[in-house]
Amino acid sequence: MLRFFVLIGLVVVIALIVRSQMIPESFGDLGHFRADAVEEAKRFEPRHLGRDVCADCHDDVAALHVKDAHARVECESCHGPGATHVAADGEGGIIRPDGKAPCLVCHQLMPARPSVFAQITPEDHYRFVGVEDPEVDCIACHDPHEPLFMDRDLRTARLHPLIHRCRDCHAGRTDETLVRPPGHPEIFECDYCHADIVDGFAERPHSEVRCTTCHLFFRESDFAGRMLRDSDPRFCLLCHREAEFRSDDAPPGIDWPAHREDMADDTIDLDKRCVDCHQDRIHPLQTRTAVGSEE
Ligand code: HEC
Ligand code: HEC
Ligand code: HEC
Ligand code: HEC
Ligand code: HEC
Ligand code: HEC
Ligand code: HEC
Ligand code: HEC
Ligand code: HEC
Repeated sequence: MLRFFVLIGLVVVIALIVRSQMIPESFGDLGHFRADAVEEAKRFEPRHLGRDVCADCHDDVAALHVKDAHARVECESCHGPGATHVAADGEGGIIRPDGKAPCLVCHQLMPARPSVFAQITPEDHYRFVGVEDPEVDCIACHDPHEPLFMDRDLRTARLHPLIHRCRDCHAGRTDETLVRPPGHPEIFECDYCHADIVDGFAERPHSEVRCTTCHLFFRESDFAGRMLRDSDPRFCLLCHREAEFRSDDAPPGIDWPAHREDMADDTIDLDKRCVDCHQDRIHPLQTRTAVGSEE
């Protein structure tokens, strides 16, 4: 019995000696960690600098960026670490992304991705927007710094009751036109609250276009999100710009801004946005916004 306790005592003593040898010098000075580690970490040069540093020299790009859907994406998530570039005063040292891959890294449809995040498969997406040539780059239509040309800051858009999209409950389902079986959970449809706008929409030229394609919804809580109304002409041009890579069944294309000049009756027309001439082709409004009063 005594031998047993001596053995345990010995083990404890050895353990204490080993511990005192193993514990780094500054451990516990500041808390349950090695205080010197803080100084050591400070000596590393950061490779990622953050967008505020980029904005010092690229204020034009940075200003666009804060407004659109990519507002939360860091410059260096696409351009790689900027330390070398900035140290060289902008001479090289930065990636200029090229091709589809840099976009698909984040936007390729994958069941494991949170379903509220915007995802596409290039094949389906190109069919939908009427692009024939699979080699066409995403930036032929989307400006990487303002992919949807929103005409107002996301955070100033109206708070709107929560809406449901199929992909909120069905991972990977993007076909919103699929017929739901009887007894399917109730979803709040647009017509529940906007009956006058939905009424007759099926007979309008944009009947194939989902309401939520033009009115993006960014969920903010379990009850609400930001609903956008986008009347920036470049948004319409995502579908309507005349280009060689588009197929015959693509939405009708126009040459912009030549189209406006061709269609203008007088000089006032030369300031008009697409919706000022074409709202009747989209849907009626409840409230009329005056030209240019958006900003
Ligand atoms: C000290 C000023 C400065 C800072 C800070 C700076 N840049 Fe630049 N950058 C330049 C200059 C100068 C050029 C070359 C001229 C041009 O294209 O405007 C350039 C060019 C670029 C290019 C184009 C490269 C190419 O091959 O065409 C990219 C992309 C870029 N910068 C991204 C960034 C990012 C991202 C940051 C933040 C990490 C950043 N820059 C910070 C000055 C700067
Ligand atoms: C979603 C990816 C993405 C993000 C985020 C992004 N960029 Fe870019 N950027 C690109 C791509 C792609 C190009 C090349 C565009 C082209 O070739 O037309 C580019 C080009 C540039 C250029 C060169 C422009 C020119 O006309 O030569 C600069 C400068 C630049 N980016 C700065 C920035 C800054 C600053 C930020 C952050 C505020 C930023 N980028 C965020 C993808 C991105
Ligand atoms: C680092 C990840 C990342 C990369 C790379 C990236 N994006 Fe995005 N993109 C985002 C995030 C985050 C959003 C905001 C989506 C949200 O909040 O639901 C977004 C939004 C968008 C939207 C709006 C989608 C919608 O309906 O809400 C489009 C269009 C888009 N990106 C296109 C592109 C294109 C084109 C490229 C390549 C030049 C690209 N993205 C590269 C992260 C990325
Ligand atoms: C011919 C022009 C065109 C090309 C090329 C194009 N897009 Fe789009 N994209 C659009 C239009 C128009 C929309 C808005 C309609 C919609 O929501 O599908 C859109 C929407 C998106 C969205 C939002 C989808 C959603 O469900 O909210 C993403 C993400 C996107 N594009 C990414 C890409 C990527 C990545 C590429 C390259 C592989 C690409 N786009 C190429 C025109 C284009
Ligand atoms: C609030 C969550 C929710 C939303 C949003 C939702 N569904 Fe469903 N859906 C369900 C549930 C739950 C079932 C029943 C699954 C089962 O019984 O296996 C289902 C079943 C289905 C089915 C039959 C089974 C299957 O998976 O093929 C179809 C088809 C369907 N939904 C289509 C849609 C479409 C199209 C949309 C968008 C317009 C949509 N759903 C939006 C929850 C949802
Ligand atoms: C539960 C009710 C409800 C549902 C469902 C609903 N909305 Fe709304 N929506 C509202 C209310 C309330 C307003 C503010 C109305 C006003 O001020 O006249 C609004 C405003 C809007 C606006 C104007 C935003 C602005 O900036 O002025 C748009 C666009 C919109 N909704 C689109 C949609 C779309 C698209 C759907 C279907 C996906 C939808 N809504 C479903 C209640 C709803
Ligand atoms: C997601 C793609 C998409 C977007 C975004 C889009 N449209 Fe369209 N547009 C279409 C389709 C599809 C048609 C129907 C073409 C047909 O009938 O063959 C159409 C038809 C039209 C027509 C009627 C052409 C005719 O023959 O009568 C006009 C005008 C028009 N759109 C203007 C706009 C304006 C203005 C915007 C921006 C507020 C816009 N579109 C945004 C896809 C789009
Ligand atoms: C000054 C007024 C005006 C402006 C601004 C304007 N359009 Fe038009 N647009 C017209 C007229 C007029 C026609 C021919 C008659 C018609 O179809 O209504 C037309 C025709 C069209 C067509 C049908 C072309 C065809 O071949 O079938 C489309 C698509 C279209 N416009 C889209 C747009 C888009 C997208 C914008 C903004 C980028 C825009 N328009 C801006 C007046 C305008
Ligand atoms: C082709 C793009 C497009 C489609 C599709 C579309 N809208 Fe709109 N909608 C717009 C534009 C652009 C405006 C705002 C015009 C402006 O600000 O002058 C708008 C405005 C609205 C408003 C605000 C109306 C007001 O009086 O202020 C509501 C609500 C709305 N849309 C609901 C819907 C619903 C519901 C659907 C589907 C049935 C739908 N939209 C489909 C482009 C579209």
